[in-house]
Amino acid sequence: MVIVLRLASTADVPALERLIETSVRALSAGYYSPKQVESALTHLFGVDTQLIADGTYFIAENSEGIVGCGGWSKRQTLFGGDRYKTVADPELDPAVDSARIRAFFVHPDFARQGIGRRLIEACEAAAKTAGFQTFTLVATLPGQPLYAALGYTVTQLLETRLSDGAVLPMARMEKTLLSRPASPQSTPAPVAAGTEPESKSARTGDADGRM
Ligand SMILES: CC(C)(COP(=O)(O)OP(=O)(O)OC[C@H]1O[C@@H](n2cnc3c(N)ncnc32)[C@H](O)[C@@H]1OP(=O)(O)O)[C@@H](O)C(=O)NCCC(=O)NCCS
Repeated sequence: MVIVLRLASTADVPALERLIETSVRALSAGYYSPKQVESALTHLFGVDTQLIADGTYFIAENSEGIVGCGGWSKRQTLFGGDRYKTVADPELDPAVDSARIRAFFVHPDFARQGIGRRLIEACEAAAKTAGFQTFTLVATLPGQPLYAALGYTVTQLLETRLSDGAVLPMARMEKTLLSRPASPQSTPAPVAAGTEPESKSARTGDADGRM
């Protein structure tokens, strides 16, 4: 089956929202409780339309429709869809900041077929063309194996508290394209998202971890 990548447009948003719901409900099983999943779908996950406007959100599709999505960003926000964003999202400086890797979702019928990998590789190539050499993301628990397979390392464990009180364990992960090895990582203790010491590029996160 041929799967091609293309940039998302505003017209894709309804189909992307459906894909995100289907992906999260099926592929979060065993990582998050049903309550955590429903809370995250209500308050956190969804399309960040700024990425579509920036031309940095990719779709993977076959002849029948969208089977995956994922993007990168030249802006400060680290995670969450429009429903989670309440602050301005200023641009980063590629000379000193890390590009964001954002919002990867694959349809469960097409999981473990390399779609997530293809999407990340497309994002990294585009971000590199824009001048970025380092990448940062905040991963869900089901997302972490994918990012680890692509060379990302956990730099911080986070607990994102949603507005209904649900708490979602997540992890900040980073990767550099430079040849120098990443600094050795030990597994840190979890902290509340947004209360941790931030790298220079993520200092704008508020107390809810909205970055
Ligand atoms: C995370 C997600 C996008 C991965 O997409 P995918 O297309 O299935 O990933 P790929 O097939 O490209 O996986 C590439 C490699 O990552 C690793 N990997 C991916 N998913 C994995 C899993 N569930 N368990 C173990 N390793 C996994 C493997 O090394 C895999 O290579 P392999 O299949 O040859 O062993 C998908 O599971 C998903 O949509 N999850 C629900 C939504 C979510 O939480 N997204 C992350 C937001 S931060």
